[in-house]
Order: sequence, then C-alpha cells, then structure tokens
Amino acid sequence: MMKGNILVSGGSGYIGSHTCIELINSGYKPIIVDNLSNSDIQSLDRIEEIAGERPEFFEINLCDREALNQIPKSLRIDALIHFAAFKSVNESVADPLMYYHNNLESLVNILRFCTERNIEHLVFSSSCTVYGDAKELPVTEETPLQKASSPYGNTKQISETIILDYLKVHPELNTISLRYFNPAGAHPSAKIGELPRGIPNNLLPYLTQTAVGLRDELKVFGGDYNTKDGSAIRDYIHVSDLAEAHLKAFEFMKSGKMTSNYDLFNLGSGNGYTVLEVIKSYEKVSGEKLPYQIVDRRPGDVEKIWASTEKAEKILGFTPSRGIDDITKSAWEWEKHYRKNIEKSIS
Ligand SMILES: NC(=O)c1ccc[n+]([C@@H]2O[C@H](COP(=O)([O-])OP(=O)(O)OC[C@H]3O[C@@H](n4cnc5c(N)ncnc54)[C@H](O)[C@@H]3O)[C@@H](O)[C@H]2O)c1
Repeated sequence: MMKGNILVSGGSGYIGSHTCIELINSGYKPIIVDNLSNSDIQSLDRIEEIAGERPEFFEINLCDREALNQIPKSLRIDALIHFAAFKSVNESVADPLMYYHNNLESLVNILRFCTERNIEHLVFSSSCTVYGDAKELPVTEETPLQKASSPYGNTKQISETIILDYLKVHPELNTISLRYFNPAGAHPSAKIGELPRGIPNNLLPYLTQTAVGLRDELKVFGGDYNTKDGSAIRDYIHVSDLAEAHLKAFEFMKSGKMTSNYDLFNLGSGNGYTVLEVIKSYEKVSGEKLPYQIVDRRPGDVEKIWASTEKAEKILGFTPSRGIDDITKSAWEWEKHYRKNIEKSIS
C-alpha cells in the first residue's frame, strides 16, 4: 500500500536521488521538484531502474514563487524534504549573492508553500558547517555555533533561524533540520552517485576521479594538523545511510512524539577519519595505489570534526550501518561505472 506523497526538492541531486530510492523502497511516492541546475534529468531513469518506479517530476526554480503553482493543488502532499540548494563553499566565497539568493529565497518559498498546501511535515538539509571550528569533540546538537566560515555555511545558519522564526507563528508545521557531516559513497548498484561539476570540493569524488585517471594526483590539504598522521579529520556518512535517516526523521514527526514543532539532529557516523586513512581505505578495497601529494592547508578548513550520534540514535532510532570501506568502495564503483557507461551515453 502506498504510504504517502513526499515532495522532494532537489530530488534529482546526489542525496535527493538516493533518498527517492529509499522512499520508493519503503512504500512512499516521491515527487521531485528541481531546476536541474546541478543535476541531470537522467537521474530519474536511474531511480526508476533501481527502484522500479519513476518519480513524478516538476522542473521548477524554487526561487520563482509563481512557478510552484505548476504543482497541482489537488495533489495531497504528506511531507516535504527540502534538499535544493547550492553547496559549494568555494563558489559561495566567489559569488556570495548567488548563494544568499538561491538558498534563502528558495527556503522562503518552500515555507510559504507548506502553509498554502497544508503540508504538516518538513525536513531541512543543514550541514555540520554550522558548527565551524568546534572547540569540543564530538560535536553534539548543543555545541555552540561558531561564525560561519563561508557564505554557504552562513546560508545554512540563516536558514535554520528563518525556519525557527516561521515556526513560532506556524505551530501547525513540524520541521526537523538534519545537520549532515560528510555525505559520501554511492548506491551499491553503482548507477547513481556523487557527480560534482568541475573540480570537486569534496574528498571522495576528487579521490575517485584521480583513481580513474581524470586528475594527476589527489591534493591532501595540510599535513601538519594536530592529528595522528597530520592530515585533517572528518566524519564520513554513507549516502544510503543518510537517505534512511530522512525516513526516520519523517516517521518520527508523524508519530506525534515531538515535544515541540522543531527539532534538529546531527547525522554522522560518530567516527573521525584522517584524509590519509581514507586513502588507505581506498587502496585496500581497490588493491590499487593512489597518487597523492600533501600540500598547504586550505583556508577555511577546520582541523578535525566528528559528530556525536547519540541524539539521532536515541530519538530517531538511527544508526548508520555502513563504514568507511563501504564508502570508498561504492564511490569508486560508481566512478568507474559512470565513466564507462553513462558519460559515453551523454556525450
Ligand atoms: N553533499 C554534501 O557534502 C552536503 C553536506 C552537508 C549538507 N548538504 C546539503 O544537502 C542538500 C543536498 O545536497 P547534494 O549533495 O545532494 O547537492 P546536489 O547539488 O547534488 O543536489 C541539490 C539539487 O538541488 C537543485 N537545486 C538547487 N537550487 C535549486 C533551485 N533554486 N530550484 C530548484 N532546484 C534547485 C540542484 O539542481 C540539485 O539537483 C543541500 O541543501 C546541501 O547544502 C550537502
């Protein structure tokens, strides 16, 4: 039996497409709204191939409030997951207004849309960047936020504030913000995965692009951090685990167990890995050597950060089941599959 319609903004993107598969597998009907500014319409084919159903799709720029009227008023929407945003730290430094406009205007329109269409449940994609260079580890949901180190990070801090302000006067809307740590890896089918445009900002796509020969070598930013091998520590969470967490968040809201209409959760694995450990994991699962070079630290990068997963475990019942080797292996399988099968069919 179909359990309900979930509107997924940014659903053709990296985390959104994995979440759509999870929703279909769990009996929900995802309806995607995306302007394809950072994704490809082909991701719908791949969702259909993997999950056996093709999500309904609306090509809409969420900054265009009127365009949201293309979504029929007769469509009952049980929940909305708002992934759509620009996400590159570097790009946001170069063009801050593009980020403030896209990420904040779209959120404002999403909130209005929730009220206009009587949507009761909203999940918002936030990020561990809101914690900045946290003084205490692991980072809990109570860890004080630091000044954002980029306009992108600032859009996530401001978005959380906008949501809180809005919810004060809209008690009928429940919202959960999920602060993702470092989403990485790909679906085990290798048919969908992370596909950044241009030079990747994130470690895993840079690593796998190097592995398939697209980049000469991986640059490890900083070898003199105060960590066991000198490289920076991050908390990587498999994108399929992350997808499952969205369902848990929605089902928690629906259960009526929320004590107020807003809550937030860290989504990480609870383990920190250095960049060199991630490289070692890749070398282990692939049996191949990765060319890399340790270079200067990158401005704005924090030394180490990992999540406390206690709250998500206790309240949402969410524990990631995939580890770092699953992440490097699936990311690598996806990169190989993409270069061999999909890229050729596009060009
Ligand atoms: N991937 C990460 O490392 C990471 C980490 C923390 C938080 N997040 C957040 O998670 C969310 C999803 O990230 P992702 O990695 O899947 O990114 P992505 O770029 O793959 O997906 C985002 C999707 O949103 C769409 N989009 C952007 N602006 C839009 C607009 N104005 N109207 C309609 N569609 C629009 C894009 O076309 C894309 O398909 C984002 O909010 C991001 O900030 C991502």
